[in-house]
Amino acid sequence: MENIALIGFMGSGKTTTGKLLAERLGWRFTDTDILIENAAGRSIPDIFANEGEVAFRNRETAAIQEACRGFCQVIATGGGAILRPDNIVELRGSSLIIWLTARPEVVVARTEKVAQSRPLLVRRDDDLFSHILKMLGERGPLYQSAAHLVIDTSDRSPDAVAGDIQHKWERRYKKGITT
Ligand code: S3P
Repeated sequence: MENIALIGFMGSGKTTTGKLLAERLGWRFTDTDILIENAAGRSIPDIFANEGEVAFRNRETAAIQEACRGFCQVIATGGGAILRPDNIVELRGSSLIIWLTARPEVVVARTEKVAQSRPLLVRRDDDLFSHILKMLGERGPLYQSAAHLVIDTSDRSPDAVAGDIQHKWERRYKKGITT
């Protein structure tokens, strides 16, 4: 395994934890949302508004492929990266995949602050909590089957989570576990 990839719902702490983990390991931090924005020359809300979700997902697949060509990186993926089986194959071929989870009420509290910049949270016909519960229900099994390891971040700081992942990585590495 050449990289560590973080998957999970919006607000699960992929970016914050990923940066801290990369620092701890002395690795590069790669955020596929940033790769997408750089390649498109526009923000993610702009991509959704002007090109639509399918085009965004195509861009996301290309960004994941690009990220997975590197090594010694912590890769933070977007919350919908698991929606396409090809993305999962790509990530599993190059990375230890860690699913960051959180209780629904924690996810809601965290995402409330950033919901305006998340098109899939803005476009909803329900209150934020019900909408997130529905999405978590749909995506939960996909995250579960893609992940090598699962870490609940609900009651822990991003640094504690990063430390836990570092410890798990080093233990696996010493034992020679390759998947
Ligand atoms: C999405 C999550 C976002 C971003 C886009 C779509 C999703 O990333 O990729 O708004 O489908 O869950 P974060 O999980 O980093 O917020």
